[in-house]
Amino acid sequence: MQAEQGKNNQNSYHWYPGHMTKAVRMMQENLKLIDLIIELTDARIPGSSRNPDIEKLGAQKSRIILLNKADLADPDCNRRWADFFRETGAYALEMNAKTGAGIRTLSAAVRDVCREKLERDRKRGIVNRPIRAMVAGIPNVGKSTLINACAGRACAKTGNKPGVTKGRQWIRVNGELELLDTPGILWPSFEDAKAGMYLAFIGSMNDEAILPEKLACDLIRTLEELYPGAVQARYGIGKRQGAEPELTLADIARCRGCLLKGDNPDLKKASGILLDDFRSGRLGRMTLERP
Ligand code: G4P
Repeated sequence: MQAEQGKNNQNSYHWYPGHMTKAVRMMQENLKLIDLIIELTDARIPGSSRNPDIEKLGAQKSRIILLNKADLADPDCNRRWADFFRETGAYALEMNAKTGAGIRTLSAAVRDVCREKLERDRKRGIVNRPIRAMVAGIPNVGKSTLINACAGRACAKTGNKPGVTKGRQWIRVNGELELLDTPGILWPSFEDAKAGMYLAFIGSMNDEAILPEKLACDLIRTLEELYPGAVQARYGIGKRQGAEPELTLADIARCRGCLLKGDNPDLKKASGILLDDFRSGRLGRMTLERP
């Protein structure tokens, strides 16, 4: 996923659709084969990490929303987001695809969400036909990690089945659920600059298109509002009342010994440290969007 390439784009967060049409076409083909979409969102930004057209794309299909990377997000916000999605009629669960925590609950949820379909099948005399699901989401949200976690656990690829386009593999999670091994790749909102900024914070957008210092300063500003004092606590630096984020960044550089000639703070290096710490959860479990 790349930020828009163009003149003066070093300070802006925009999305460039690029080759997404191909990904959509492939997903539409695969949609014909499945009963259920397992939609992954990033629990730190459950709004901005969703695809704006998923309702339309996934119409007619059952859907479960996963708040993935729940281990990096604020536990209280995880619960609130799950409740929020449930109130809108969707099924939502917390997930940590990296450890597989949540997969067992997912299996139970699939049964619940697809209850009517299973009942219909049973009345028609179709038994033991597993629910077929596709994992879908924007880049870097954890699709492959989830599929691998399910495959590792289940240890069974069911292989090509008659009537299924050659090359597609199904992973049997349990007797009731099979996953398509190819995830549906979706794109985030192209219009919303704030969403673009959040996606850049979590590293789902090509960093190189944005100046790291700008990204780091925007992150400091955002965290100052949502988790005041967290940045200072991490680096053991003092709080500068109402100060520009550049000064906080300079403090981070100094306390980490990132200095240039003449003892000037290396803001670029400090930006890298801050972004890495945020993305890996070392700044604490944080959620940037509230339901
Ligand atoms: P994608 O297929 O949707 O593009 O995403 P992918 O599975 O490649 O995951 C992107 C990154 O997110 C990976 O990190 C992966 O380990 C991490 N990840 C996925 N799910 C979770 C989760 O629930 N919690 C946490 N903390 N991380 C998760 P990476 O740095 O690219 O690779 P690696 O160094 O972890 O192998």
